[in-house]
Amino acid sequence: MTDQDSKKQASEFMTDREMVEVHSRLNHEKHPPTKGFLIAPLVFVFVFGCLIFVCSIQLAHSTNQFQLHPPKEIVELTEEEREALRLERKVDSGKKVFAVRCASCHQANGLGIAGQYPPLAGSKWVTSDPGLITNIILKGLKGEIIVKGETYGTSAAVNMAAVPISDREIANVTTYVRQAWGNEAPEILESEVSAFRDASKDQIDQWTGDQLVEMYPAAFSE
Ligand code: HEC
Repeated sequence: MTDQDSKKQASEFMTDREMVEVHSRLNHEKHPPTKGFLIAPLVFVFVFGCLIFVCSIQLAHSTNQFQLHPPKEIVELTEEEREALRLERKVDSGKKVFAVRCASCHQANGLGIAGQYPPLAGSKWVTSDPGLITNIILKGLKGEIIVKGETYGTSAAVNMAAVPISDREIANVTTYVRQAWGNEAPEILESEVSAFRDASKDQIDQWTGDQLVEMYPAAFSE
């Protein structure tokens, strides 16, 4: 059926006026294209909803910590107090290193085990020259030594192997050991440890007690 035919047919049943009416009604009933327009606002509502949720949680958290006047100990520490705090932290961290790396032999109380592991409490090897204890940790120790009047290291089975830890950890642990159990020796700096490490790089084997006594005669002079 051609176009002309259909027109002819339609006009046979409908007047032009009716036709116009039908079309305008159809036009009214036709839905506007809503698809693309509906989704976008929904996404925005969702995203903003999430944003507000996250922001309010964030705000609640940060306002708890927010202090108009921070505690005095943070702002009003004197140079000395700050220094004491630093040393305290260093000793604390040294204590942890000791628990992991040394306490199994020298014991948590620093008294060692008679005849096997020498005491660190009250030992000149610990409290005299910083180089002595640092070198022992860096390279280990074998051979006979005398600690607080007792002889140790008589059996090769109980040498002290080098303890593989960083310069900072050595600085921390030696400082702890030098100030624990009644020991009172100054702290050892990380830079000092690094210097001892450099200076002893040709020492492949463990130190012997005799070697160290020779290197640090002042420590054993009394
Ligand atoms: C596996 C056991 C063992 C471990 C772990 C160990 N030592 Fe020793 N340490 C020994 C023995 C054994 C000697 C004595 C060696 C000798 O007589 O030749 C010794 C000697 C020493 C000495 C010199 C003697 C004295 O009593 O003052 C110091 C200082 C020392 N150790 C510190 C440490 C520190 C600090 C650590 C941890 C970083 C450590 N040791 C880890 C077994 C150990």
